[in-house]
Amino acid sequence: MRVRRLVTAVAVAGVTTLSALGAACAPGDSPRAESPALASAGRPDAGREAILVHGCGSCHRIPGVPNARSLVGPPLDSWSGRSFIAGTLPNSQENLQRWLTDPQEVRPGSAMPTIDLTDEEVADITAYLFTLD
Ligand code: HEC
Repeated sequence: MRVRRLVTAVAVAGVTTLSALGAACAPGDSPRAESPALASAGRPDAGREAILVHGCGSCHRIPGVPNARSLVGPPLDSWSGRSFIAGTLPNSQENLQRWLTDPQEVRPGSAMPTIDLTDEEVADITAYLFTLD
């Protein structure tokens, strides 16, 4: 009996602590922590636009993006069917977000520069690339 009450008390305390943490962590405080959630919320059309704006096509061939015909980096055709990102990370929305956020962190010395993208742009670009099959 006493043990059960103790367990309940601990569980309640845990929940309270978690909600307190949640309240302290207002949206926008830690955009990185939100990236996985954004992955599913990414908008492919906005991603295509961001790809254009950031000039990804100056290094990549990307279907559906005007003038994206360069072969400096690998072509991004059929992206949704790829197994690996830059030969290192298993291809998933989450890992692609990680790559786009900071390729130099994933693969130091890579010829792909780290580009200044917002978390939203990263999610949108990810959504667009995953429409390519
Ligand atoms: C200056 C040239 C350059 C620019 C600009 C550039 N990339 Fe890259 N990108 C590369 C190179 C080179 C690689 C191969 C890197 C490696 O394997 O280490 C690469 C790799 C990638 C990969 C993984 C490809 C694969 O086959 O595994 C993706 C996805 C990608 N880039 C997307 C983008 C997007 C989206 C942008 C624009 C936000 C962008 N890149 C801008 C040069 C560039």
